[in-house]
Amino acid sequence: MPATTDARGILSEENTSKREEIIEMLKRAYWMEIETVMSYISNSVNPDGVRAQEIKESLEEDIQEELGHAQRFAERIKELYGVVPGSLEFDAEQTYLQPPEHQTDVVHVIRGVIEAEAGAIDFYNRIIEATDDVDPVTNDMTIEILHDEEGHRRLFEGFLREYEAEGLA
Ligand SMILES: [Fe+2]
Ligand SMILES: [Fe+2]
Repeated sequence: MPATTDARGILSEENTSKREEIIEMLKRAYWMEIETVMSYISNSVNPDGVRAQEIKESLEEDIQEELGHAQRFAERIKELYGVVPGSLEFDAEQTYLQPPEHQTDVVHVIRGVIEAEAGAIDFYNRIIEATDDVDPVTNDMTIEILHDEEGHRRLFEGFLREYEAEGLA
């Protein structure tokens, strides 16, 4: 850690361990976003059928947003004197967003997206709690990203409702 003369704030000497804890959380958030980008690319291409179009287009838009989130988490890791991890440290977790057996199974994709967004919402709320009072910049940034994820989940919950209403989910 660089020498710092800051008397207060997350970059101050006395907050070193807190800062390291936040960096670890940001790395996890970064990986979650990267994996979401991978999953959304595949699921914006694979699905077949008339019904799949809306879902594919929506995921296509989200890819850019999730990529932007990954970049913001990465920048913040560096600002806190951390190092953005290399690809060899990546561990995949999104079992629920693997390609379904049949590529017309749009409900599988919708449920997978809802699960991914719910996981992000849960974890980002934890970051917000952990940074409250001690790191207002990470706190603010994560609140903004959380807002996006809540919007994503709500959109896909709406898609699921439609399928449920028609007895297809
Ligand atoms: Fe995201
Ligand atoms: Fe999202």
